[in-house]
This record gives sequence, structure tokens and C-alpha cells, in this order.
Amino acid sequence: MKILFITHSFNSLSQRLYCELTGRGHQVSIEFDISDSVTEEAVALFQPELIIAPFLKRAIPESIWSRHRCLIVHPGVPGDRGPSALDWAIQRGVDEWGVTVLQAEAEMDAGPVWASANFPMAATRKASLYRNQVTEAAVRAVLKAVERVAAGDFEPQRVPGKPHELMKQSDRHIDWQTDCSALVLAKLNAADGFPGVADSLFGQPCHLFDAWPEATLRGVPGTVLGWRETAICRATPDGAVWIGHVKRPGGIKLPATLAFPEATDLPELPLAGCWKAADPTWQDIAYEEAAGVGFLSFEFYNGAMSTAQCRRLTEAFRWATTRPTKVIVLRGGSDFWSNGIHLNTIEAADSPADESWANINAIDDLAEAILRCESQLTVAAVGGNTGAGGCFLARATDFVWVRDGVMLNPHYKNMGNLFGSEFWTYLLPPRVGAAGAAAIMRHRLPMTAAESVQLGFYDACLPGPGFAVDVARRAAELAAMPDIGEQLAAKAARRAADEAVKPLAVYRAAELAEMRRNFYGFDPSYHVARYHFVSRSPHSWTPRHLARHRDLDWKVPA
Ligand code: COA
Repeated sequence: MKILFITHSFNSLSQRLYCELTGRGHQVSIEFDISDSVTEEAVALFQPELIIAPFLKRAIPESIWSRHRCLIVHPGVPGDRGPSALDWAIQRGVDEWGVTVLQAEAEMDAGPVWASANFPMAATRKASLYRNQVTEAAVRAVLKAVERVAAGDFEPQRVPGKPHELMKQSDRHIDWQTDCSALVLAKLNAADGFPGVADSLFGQPCHLFDAWPEATLRGVPGTVLGWRETAICRATPDGAVWIGHVKRPGGIKLPATLAFPEATDLPELPLAGCWKAADPTWQDIAYEEAAGVGFLSFEFYNGAMSTAQCRRLTEAFRWATTRPTKVIVLRGGSDFWSNGIHLNTIEAADSPADESWANINAIDDLAEAILRCESQLTVAAVGGNTGAGGCFLARATDFVWVRDGVMLNPHYKNMGNLFGSEFWTYLLPPRVGAAGAAAIMRHRLPMTAAESVQLGFYDACLPGPGFAVDVARRAAELAAMPDIGEQLAAKAARRAADEAVKPLAVYRAAELAEMRRNFYGFDPSYHVARYHFVSRSPHSWTPRHLARHRDLDWKVPA
């Protein structure tokens, strides 16, 4: 079927639907929702058999829905209508939620229902719910709806419902004197990653994001008790919570201590016990050990890895290599494994060019430490979406096991034609061939976990449910191999042979020469793209590689 996506952006949900539908032989083209006239033009050019809106912030114009079948993906159960669907569901503490695919009509979300899928609600952040449970349910519901459209004999039914309001900041307000920690966490979770909860810190207005529980610290409710690395801890009547990120008026979302440097005048609240995982508290890097395997988690907000985070993670990794283990598993975070260098901290730096340079060198140091590790076999357990440099950082390990359902974007050019580093020129071509590597970089398209394994880029795609358990079992099996000594020796020999052909330093220098041009050269594309990315600027055109109907040689098939 010829399917046109009308979407606010090509976000992870749209990417997943795109891969699922194209993988089933449908022809999908994409137009960003920029204006009614642009959408009308896209429809005229593509002449789709079906229009799907995976992620829209505005209504589809009547000129389109009255002439074409348009299916809206609504993140709510049948009968739920209106904006802030997930926010209300989280804040009301419902047990079950769902996704409904309904036909666009004049009244928002009131059209007949083509399919729906439910999931048990999880106590997590809105953005996490969206990227995981909502996305999985949306895939099931959209595939079902497309099947029904193709069959031609399905009669979609109307479901009665009443629209709810847009959730306002007054609905999200935190009273630090009376709201217990669980309620504070629920309010912050319902607002993460957008719009956050309007509040104030150090007498200044700001929006709060990225809340973590705290098991032991106590203080006068509402006061900021202190800081740890980039987060701050604030007391509630029955304990405290950590705030990882904040956004000041007119600014961008930043680590809390970067947005409010005065926080570091308060007491530092360091973790006892090195990298070892502690009780619930703010801990972005945590280490555990079992059955000869070291597990290193790095829960970096949005998968973004700043210079300081890369350096601390390198230190933690080097420390992990000194442990009496045979395997190290790099777990990444629960939502993202890694999205490469931290574009927000770069944007906020006095010299974004210098900070980009420092950050890419710091992430390359980490990749190099992984590549040069001879004391353990290394595994990347990619359980969350991964983009750009993060995809190649994972490939620096000996084995990459990826969770089915994860979306990968192993390319850089979408960020202002960035060349990329993280040793991708060493790591990618042997896996997919020189032409394959060039195609991945040029096409700039998302890839599913299964595709990454079919291409030979990653090593195994493991089922979603039970992924962590499966990884632990497989890693323990590796560690228990009777010939683990020989395996490690063979790994060291392979690295030495590669080094003799072309040293890692040569790959790195060549990549960084290109990156230096991106950061300091005449062409400002990377700086412009980064500014728009971190400012979340609405798109003003759809890139050609997505809007296939705008290809110069596009012809409406006869
Ligand atoms: N630095 C800082 N923030 C980042 C980031 C990065 N490298 N990558 C993602 N984020 C943030 C986004 O700004 C967004 O923030 P929000 O909480 O304010 O919404 C959040 O992570 C989710 O990103 P989004 O783009 O909405 O998610 P997605 O799943 O739709 O897309 C990617 C995933 C990876 C395709 C996309 O985020 C991306 O292109 N990231 C940049 C990758 C990059 O170029 N890295 C630098 C080169 S190594």
C-alpha cells in the first residue's frame, strides 16, 4: 500500500512504524506537519492509498480528511480524547492504558476506531512509557488497522467518550511542604521529557525534569540539601527526591548543576562505595558483579554523554577491567543505550566548538579503552534506543546484543552533516562492507534491531521480555567457557593484527580531522543543526530522504 505519514517529526515511534510497514512491503513516504498547504501538496504528489499520523500536534485539515482516509495514532484507550492523554493517565495512576488508531474527523479523536491495543501501566516517566509500552502497542494497533484497511470489509465503530483538557501547570504543581516523595515523583514523571513541572530553585523560576527517588537523605521540606555530580537533592515531608535536569526560562534543558551553578555552594553528597550500585538514589554510573561478569550501567538522561560523563565512564570501565571477572557487560541506560556526545551541554558552553572537540575526544577515549581491553570479553547489551556515536560505541565491544524493538540510527549526517568519530571507519566496514557502510551513512534511515543483525552490524537480537535476564545468562555462559583464556588471547591477537595493518590512532586522527572541519570550519551546518535540535525548533521542511514524493524523479505510478 502507498502510505503517507503526516507527522510533527520523525520521532522514535514514527521511525518504528516506518520500519515495520516498509519491512512488510508497504511504500511509505513522510511529510512533516508544517502547514496545511504543504500537507495538501504532499498528498497531491504522492496520492497515497492511506494517510497515517503517528505523532501530530495539530489537527489534519478538512481538505485532506474529507477526501482521504486518515488514521490518527492516539496514545489513549478507545474513548479517550484530547491532549495530554499520557500525562492524565500517569497522574491518575490508571492500571491499564492503550493506543487507539482512529479515523480523522472534525472533532478531535472522536472518529471511528480502526484498531486499539492495551498495555499494563508502568510507574515510569512519560517519555519512557511513550518509547516503550506506547510504541509497542502502536505497532500492534497500526498493523492491525492497515490489515483491516487492506481487507476492505472492516467497519470501524465509534466509541463514546468525552474530551479532556490540556493538562495545565496548575494541575502539575508541586507543594514541597505537603506532597510526599511518591507524589512528587509521579508529578515529575507525568511531565517528563515535556513540558516539565514549573517550579523555582534558588529563587529563580524553572521547569524540573529527570526525577530520581532517594532512600535515606532527609531535611526541611522544600530545601535543596546538596548536590552530586550534575544532580541536586530536594527534601520532601517524608524524604527527598533528586532532580537531574532543569530548564530556565528561555533556556534549554540542562543538567541541574550546570543550570544552577550556585547549587555547588551547598554540601556535596557523594556516594559511598566507588561505582557499586547503591540503594535508590541518584547514581548515573553503577556497577554490579555476578558469576564472573561485571555489569556497568550508565543511566545518562536522554542517552547524551557529556565530556565529564564520558571521562567518568572511562574511569569506571578501566576500574571494572581490574576486577576478577571474565566478561564486562555495558548495559547503558534503561531508555537509551547512548545517543553520542551531549549536544545540550555543548550548546551551553562558552565555546560550543571547543566543547564539541573535548566531548568527541572524551567519547573516543572511552571507545578506545573498550577496544583495547584485553582482560575481559566485552558485551554491549543494547536494551534502549541508540543513535549516532552511541551505535558505534556499542560496536567497540566484542559482542553487541540488542533488544528486539530497539530503534537504531547508526549515522551522523542528520546533525548538520557531521562526519562522526567513535572509530566508525574501523568498526563499520568490516561488518557490512565498504559499500554497505557508505549506504548506511548516506541514507540516514533508522534501523530495527533485527535489521542490524541481518546486516551483520550487531550480533544478536534478543526478545524484549526477559532481555536483562537473557543477557545475564548469556554473559555468564561466556565467562564460564572452558577456553575463555584462549578466547581472550585470540581477541588480543586480532587486535594486534589489526593494529599492525592500521593503528587505531590513524583511524582516530582521520575521523577527528573531519570533525575539526565540522566544528571549526567555514561551514556552520553542524552548529545550526545543533541549535535547532536542542531548541526543539519545529521543522520548516521535510528532508528529501524522508519525503520520497519530493524526489526530483518521483512519478505518480500510472
Ligand atoms: N545530546 C543531547 N540531547 C539529546 C541527544 C544528544 N546527543 N540525543 C537525544 N537527545 C534528547 C533530545 O533533545 C530529546 O530531548 P527532550 O527530552 O527535550 O525531548 C530526547 O533526547 C529524545 O530525543 P528525540 O530526538 O525526541 O528522540 P527520538 O527517539 O525521536 O530520536 C535520535 C532519537 C537518536 C534519532 C535523535 O535524538 C538524534 O538524532 N539525536 C542526536 C544524535 C547525535 O547527532 N549525536 C551527536 C553525534 S555523536
